[in-house]
Amino acid sequence: DWVCQIPSGSGPFSFSSKDKYMRRVVRQSKFRHVFGQAVKNDQCYDDIRVSRVTWDSSFCAVNPKFVAIIIEASGGGAFLVLPLHKTGRIDKAYPTVCGHTGPVLDIDWCPHNDQVIASGSEDCTVMVWQIPENGLVTPMAEPVVVLEGHSKRVGIITWHPTARNVLLSAGCDNQVIIWNVGTGESMITLEDMHPDVIYNVSWNRNGSLICTSCKDKSIRVIDPRKETIIAEKEKAHEGARPMRAIFLSDGNILSTGFSRMSERQLALWNVQNMEEPMTVNEMDTSNGVLLPFYDADTNVVYLCGKGDSSIRYFEITDEAPYVHFLNTFVTKEPQRGMGYMPKRGLDVNKCEIARFYKLHERKCEPIVMTVPRKSDLFQDDLYPDTAGPDPTLEAEEWFDGKNGDPILISLKNGYVPGKNREFKVVKKNPLDCKGTKKTEHSSHAHKSASPTPSIKSEAKMEEILKEIKSLKDLISSQEKRIIKLEEQMSKVDL
Ligand SMILES: *[C@@H]1O[C@H](CO)[C@@H](O)[C@H](O)[C@H]1NC(C)=O
Ligand SMILES: *[C@@H]1O[C@H](CO)[C@@H](O)[C@H](O)[C@H]1NC(C)=O
Repeated sequence: DWVCQIPSGSGPFSFSSKDKYMRRVVRQSKFRHVFGQAVKNDQCYDDIRVSRVTWDSSFCAVNPKFVAIIIEASGGGAFLVLPLHKTGRIDKAYPTVCGHTGPVLDIDWCPHNDQVIASGSEDCTVMVWQIPENGLVTPMAEPVVVLEGHSKRVGIITWHPTARNVLLSAGCDNQVIIWNVGTGESMITLEDMHPDVIYNVSWNRNGSLICTSCKDKSIRVIDPRKETIIAEKEKAHEGARPMRAIFLSDGNILSTGFSRMSERQLALWNVQNMEEPMTVNEMDTSNGVLLPFYDADTNVVYLCGKGDSSIRYFEITDEAPYVHFLNTFVTKEPQRGMGYMPKRGLDVNKCEIARFYKLHERKCEPIVMTVPRKSDLFQDDLYPDTAGPDPTLEAEEWFDGKNGDPILISLKNGYVPGKNREFKVVKKNPLDCKGTKKTEHSSHAHKSASPTPSIKSEAKMEEILKEIKSLKDLISSQEKRIIKLEEQMSKVDL
């Protein structure tokens, strides 16, 4: 694999006016010299059978502790969860998360608990999993909670950015459901808003709104708690192929899609006036869906085409022409999916400003984006305070109408993952009428106080014993394997 730095002047898309082109060339940017680099071979995750299911999600989710990858699994659906340091060849027998009865289509790590991940599947369910501290030692088939409510496959899963335990799912039944995962209840169902398959859903920065892109070519801005569409752009991109739309931190929307002539496009929209785009850029005529990955702190957006072998990145500013091409990272092999590390997972000592986990057919290859700097000191201009792991609100507060921006942390001394609290689901009395949710919320606040210390420590003890047993089993099976391999070795005539 190699690195290619195309000079910024020879950008990959055409502006309609020469004037904009000129302005772009002279513009100064600290991200101008960002370069990408794939890690060495021994730092890849090898021998993974990446899922072949036809669905345009990213197939990979990353946090500062784990990389999760949707894989091929016979007779069901599964994904791998690997501690980040578990590089090299992954044994066929490596345990998976395997509770779904149909292929897994999308996965998302909880932003507020690095041990918790949600999955959506062709089996029409959403499941939430609690991964043990150091990863799986035995296959995991039992989720903490199963969320049932969709009538068709569930292709989109995304956690609320700032409220604890709020999870959104969207299915091929064209419905969006927002769950309180802490009680296992579906709280909001958006039924009649999308006449066709939803391609993508994105929360805004404080999670007060969502935007969706749909097969009917519309981008919709929705207030989910009022269950109303507050803005809509029909034919945002006129081509028939999939679109993506994500919120930027200033509340504008960035979308990718195809023109009528099948050129790939990148556009910006002002939610207050969606009639005309703020800008549209044509890029090329490849046919992979452009997946946008966005850094809300620096306003850099990375476009990874599915099936492309490049990552293109841009800086977004609040003055015309708004979108500034920075560079393209090119490799030889196409990407089947891509994971994107949250900012707090980056190595600030190396001036790393983004890290991707590129899926090949049979491996996952980290790609590091770096700003070249000579100094060893913390580069605070590259690292504005970023969203930390603590939620701003409880689920009940959010469902009750409150909003809150993310709680920011400094990356000055690097981020050290803390201990995550155990995730628990406290089912409400099923006789509680759903319609009373508005007045009910205050009683939920007491739920974590209930188990007495002795019951808690007993449960903990049991969990530890269980883990010891499974570790013992693992050691003994590995031992057998080593003996077998040694026998085979001794038979080989060197
Ligand atoms: C929407 O698309 C972006 C870019 O592909 C992705 O990062 C995000 O996870 C998608 N959202 C959902 C809910 O699939
Ligand atoms: C949340 O974001 C919306 C949209 O950008 C904004 O109107 C609202 O004031 C924000 N609320 C809070 C509490 O930050």
